[in-house]
Amino acid sequence: MSAADGADGRMDGPAIALRGVTKIFGPDPQAALALLRAGRSKAEVQAETGHVVGLDDVSLDIDKGQIFVVMGLSGSGKSTLIRHVNRLIDPTAGEIVVDGEEVLKMSLAQLRTFRRTRIAMVFQRFGLLPHRSVLDNVAYGLEVRGVPRARRLEVAAHWIGTVGLSGYERSRPRQLSGGQQQRVGLARALAMDTDILLMDEAFSALDPLIRSGLQDQLLELQAALNKTILFITHDFDEALKIGNRIAVLKDGAVQQVGRPEEIVLNPANAHIEEFVRDVNKARAIHVRTIMERAGEGEAEACAMTVPADARCEDVLPHFAQHQWVGVVDAEGRQVGRVSARQVIKALARYSPDVP
Ligand SMILES: Nc1ncnc2c1ncn2[C@@H]1O[C@H](COP(=O)(O)OP(=O)(O)O)[C@@H](O)[C@H]1O
Ligand SMILES: [Mg+2]
Repeated sequence: MSAADGADGRMDGPAIALRGVTKIFGPDPQAALALLRAGRSKAEVQAETGHVVGLDDVSLDIDKGQIFVVMGLSGSGKSTLIRHVNRLIDPTAGEIVVDGEEVLKMSLAQLRTFRRTRIAMVFQRFGLLPHRSVLDNVAYGLEVRGVPRARRLEVAAHWIGTVGLSGYERSRPRQLSGGQQQRVGLARALAMDTDILLMDEAFSALDPLIRSGLQDQLLELQAALNKTILFITHDFDEALKIGNRIAVLKDGAVQQVGRPEEIVLNPANAHIEEFVRDVNKARAIHVRTIMERAGEGEAEACAMTVPADARCEDVLPHFAQHQWVGVVDAEGRQVGRVSARQVIKALARYSPDVP
């Protein structure tokens, strides 16, 4: 797949930037905006004016090649946020910049091209065309773009194979399971060969095991494709597993942005602590985050070692036999070590029972 006409030559900022984006739903959003800026809460604005605050002054930088997760409860503004990126929604205030281009300044023609060529989307309810075969569903975006039939079917077949659905090209969507249908949705988005992928609760409708399989598949694909993926979920565990960075939304406002472990180890407020409390921290925290780093020169080799991307749960069993477990980099060099005490400290940190 060629991306030669992609990022090259464009400015080297974030792939997607939201700057002070506020969205208020209702007939007189500017009046409600004034109240919001005067310090009223979403609930107060709604009680006083009947207007709904969808987003409240959201600023985010989403770097190229990242999976950036926006996590929040239902109604927190996640879909509103993602729909600003391809301008399915215009903000009440603020700006959206994609690859250095201001989305709000695009003409209708530019916007149409932008949507067809620069951004692909995967929806929660799959959004497949029921009367088309899997092959034609996956080729659909390319058809809209005017790609000749032979070429688009060739590309579609390639991506159907990549997501593990070879043999289903002629099937209709209803003949497939939910997980398979979402693989079609993913293949259709990937066939667009865009640098940016938007996924709005794409896995939320699936059973846990199927969902976990698709998460793994997405991570595997991303390791090869290196796209910028804006991934929306209401599931904190999913956010931790998938995200390079996570932004937590509540009432349309960003509560915290950070790497998954930053959020688990240092939740910014009581709302985020509530999510963190239910998380399997042993799985969320990597040993490299809490390890004692090897000092210059002195490398006290440990008898037992784990790779740097191991998680606390991977290292725990070793403490039955070893006081220290070494942490090694990809070349097998020991870069640090952890003790049971360090692991327990990290895991116990935000337990509600420990002061
Ligand atoms: N078209 C709309 N008109 C009025 N209110 C809306 C509209 N779309 C969303 N909202 C409201 O904006 C808030 C955020 O909604 P949404 O972005 O769909 O949340 P999420 O995707 O996180 O569940 C909610 O309070 C919702 O009721
Ligand atoms: Mg939503």
